[in-house]
Amino acid sequence: MGVTLLTGASSGIGRSLARRLAAGGEVMALVARRDELLASLVAEIEAAGGNALALPCDVTDRVALANAVDIAESQLGPVTRLVANAGGGEPTDATQFDAGVFESVVRLNLVGVANAVAAVLPGMLARGDGHLVATGSLAGCRGLPSAAAYSAAKGGLANLMDSLRIDLRGRGIAVTLLMPGFVRTKPKKPGGSRGKPFRVDLEVATARMENAILARRRRLIFPWSLALAIGLTRLLPFGIDEWLLAGRGRTAGPRRNEPPA
Ligand SMILES: NC(=O)c1ccc[n+]([C@@H]2O[C@H](COP(=O)([O-])OP(=O)(O)OC[C@H]3O[C@@H](n4cnc5c(N)ncnc54)[C@H](OP(=O)(O)O)[C@@H]3O)[C@@H](O)[C@H]2O)c1
Repeated sequence: MGVTLLTGASSGIGRSLARRLAAGGEVMALVARRDELLASLVAEIEAAGGNALALPCDVTDRVALANAVDIAESQLGPVTRLVANAGGGEPTDATQFDAGVFESVVRLNLVGVANAVAAVLPGMLARGDGHLVATGSLAGCRGLPSAAAYSAAKGGLANLMDSLRIDLRGRGIAVTLLMPGFVRTKPKKPGGSRGKPFRVDLEVATARMENAILARRRRLIFPWSLALAIGLTRLLPFGIDEWLLAGRGRTAGPRRNEPPA
């Protein structure tokens, strides 16, 4: 079993995936900003007989992330798999387009993944063995309503991973892109699924993601119902797709992924 560096481990999909991979015997190096949540996850994994190390760090800080990888490698051994999962986004209000917010969403979802890849890839290339995994989104398949920044970032991420997969052929490095639709990471609220069709429960989603990671699949796209619906909108004449999608996005709520206080 190798060492997996997983970003965005403190909550949601990343936390669930970390538990699953650790239960399967992976040694886990866990990255996120909220150190108390990372510490509680390490304690949980160790209580279950696993091995994990908390590396509190912001993925948009290239130097800090490279240092975190150095610490992981000196304490645990070479990182054999990266799961670049840290991400998230807030709705974009196109009528009040804010380039600063756009930049922060792209920095987290796209540059943050590039920072993680840059930190682990040289070692993987030197060893001729490794696995790069990133959590994208079905929102990366096309520009979705109220998602200009998030769709742009996840679309860019899909292309980043595709290019890496091509360029790393024959080097012993697998590349996997996970593309979930909506995943329920918090308890159900009445009316909480509005604007989030075909939502999948967290543990169902992360079980599928874990299987795809362990099988080193190139891509995992799910659920098919939402993937098909999004794909069909691309086949419609321009204008009709806009009419169908208009007003179906999320509205701005409290900001997510703010740095911790
Ligand atoms: N939930 C969905 O419906 C859904 C659907 C498709 C794709 N996804 C993708 O799945 C991934 C996980 O999302 P989630 O739904 O599980 O959201 P979440 O519960 O908000 O988790 C996001 C994780 O990213 C970490 N993170 C955020 N900004 C960070 C930063 N600057 N540096 C380091 N870590 C950072 C957060 O930790 P800290 O705040 O502690 O730093 C947290 O652990 C994201 O890439 C998201 O885009 C989610």
